[in-house]
Amino acid sequence: MRLQKSPLGVCSYVVILWLLCASDALFKFTNIKCTCYEKSFCELRRCELKVLGRGVVGLFLHAQANQLPINTSSCVLTLFRRFNGYRPFLYNITVDICSFLKNRKRYPFFDLVYDGIRNFSNINHTCPYNHDIIVNRMVLNDNMIVKVPVPSGFYKLKFNLKTDGVWRGEVEVHVEVNLGFDR
Ligand SMILES: *[C@@H]1O[C@H](CO)[C@@H](O)[C@H](O)[C@H]1NC(C)=O
Ligand SMILES: *[C@@H]1O[C@H](CO)[C@@H](O)[C@H](O)[C@H]1NC(C)=O
Ligand SMILES: *[C@@H]1O[C@H](CO)[C@@H](O)[C@H](O)[C@H]1NC(C)=O
Ligand SMILES: *[C@@H]1O[C@H](CO)[C@@H](O)[C@H](O)[C@H]1NC(C)=O
Repeated sequence: MRLQKSPLGVCSYVVILWLLCASDALFKFTNIKCTCYEKSFCELRRCELKVLGRGVVGLFLHAQANQLPINTSSCVLTLFRRFNGYRPFLYNITVDICSFLKNRKRYPFFDLVYDGIRNFSNINHTCPYNHDIIVNRMVLNDNMIVKVPVPSGFYKLKFNLKTDGVWRGEVEVHVEVNLGFDR
């Protein structure tokens, strides 16, 4: 039998490749864990991932604030990569959130993360905060990972939050990066 190179064959091959790529997200959430250390300061109403559609996972978070306003806040953001267990990887930064929101250029990595969150959250304004912290239906898209120089693998982003000098809670978000090739 001869292999034929018909235009239709090439075309359906391209369509199949496209379908495979479209269903196999490069960059997705795999787990989330939230902790409020003190009920008198915050309570978690929601902290979960939900499948929104084929291959699309949304992140939902609602931390009820019990002491308002929040005038000052800082965050330690640490990236971990899974080898044998999770090990710190590339980034461990301390960010003064209120000054970051006034001038985002000072913290380029945090800015990338913030850029991914801000459309889905009510945190996207300058301090003080006078309301609960909500992230609703946050989804990742492949463009976000293009700007971050990480290889394929499993990662954990840990946010540790402090306000008025006191540690208040943490959020751990697990993501999978699957580039389909090594870089
Ligand atoms: C935050 O700022 C407001 C207005 O300036 C003030 O009334 C309040 O006491 C401050 N809160 C804390 C916890 O410092
Ligand atoms: C990250 O930085 C913070 C603040 O400097 C430090 O307390 C923490 O131990 C560091 N974490 C890791 C995993 O290196
Ligand atoms: C956020 O919204 C703006 C304006 O609609 C859009 O240009 C941008 O791509 C969005 N960013 C993300 C990460 O969804
Ligand atoms: C915050 O998000 C809302 C809704 O997506 C948008 O209308 C607003 O322009 C954003 N504000 C900032 C400062 O990015």
